[in-house]
Amino acid sequence: MALAYRTFQKYVADGYTKEGVDNFVNFISDQHLYRMFMVDEYHLWVAKDEADRIIGMASLRSGTHISLLFVDENHMKMGIGRALMDSLEEFVLSGKKDYLTVNASPYGVPFYHKVGFIDTGAETVNGGMVITPMKKML
Ligand SMILES: CC(C)(COP(=O)(O)OP(=O)(O)OC[C@H]1O[C@@H](n2cnc3c(N)ncnc32)[C@H](O)[C@@H]1OP(=O)(O)O)[C@@H](O)C(=O)NCCC(=O)NCCS
Repeated sequence: MALAYRTFQKYVADGYTKEGVDNFVNFISDQHLYRMFMVDEYHLWVAKDEADRIIGMASLRSGTHISLLFVDENHMKMGIGRALMDSLEEFVLSGKKDYLTVNASPYGVPFYHKVGFIDTGAETVNGGMVITPMKKML
């Protein structure tokens, strides 16, 4: 979550209102997420470097919705985001579902298009957060 926080602050927070930033920070620090994780209702993947440091993370809620996806700024554009996405897709398919959805941040939009997502609606502001709803059929 520390990785999510610092990457969010640098790449995403600028376009959000204060309410949006607060909503995000509350979301990642709130006990609710942790409890969902502990009862296996919220799934998390991490990418690590050779020294075992976390350099990327992705999470899924409701089995098919990408909740968080962040790659450390010094490791972007090296295929880590795509590798995390591959793991998510494998997990979704193993549960007999065949799609993924995401509410993409403006910075994330080109990445999601590159890995096969299509927009399912126009960019919108939700709770102060700027998002584009997207879907990928697997
Ligand atoms: C979006 C993010 C997760 C991408 O991770 P990444 O590890 O850099 O992505 P990859 O290296 O796996 O890139 C996969 C493809 O997307 C392209 N891509 C990645 N980021 C891109 C960007 N900002 N603009 C354009 N293309 C991009 C890569 O060039 C690559 O294309 P290729 O396969 O043709 O070479 C990362 O930039 C990030 O953490 N951003 C800030 C947080 C964010 O916006 N997260 C999304 C929240 S919904």
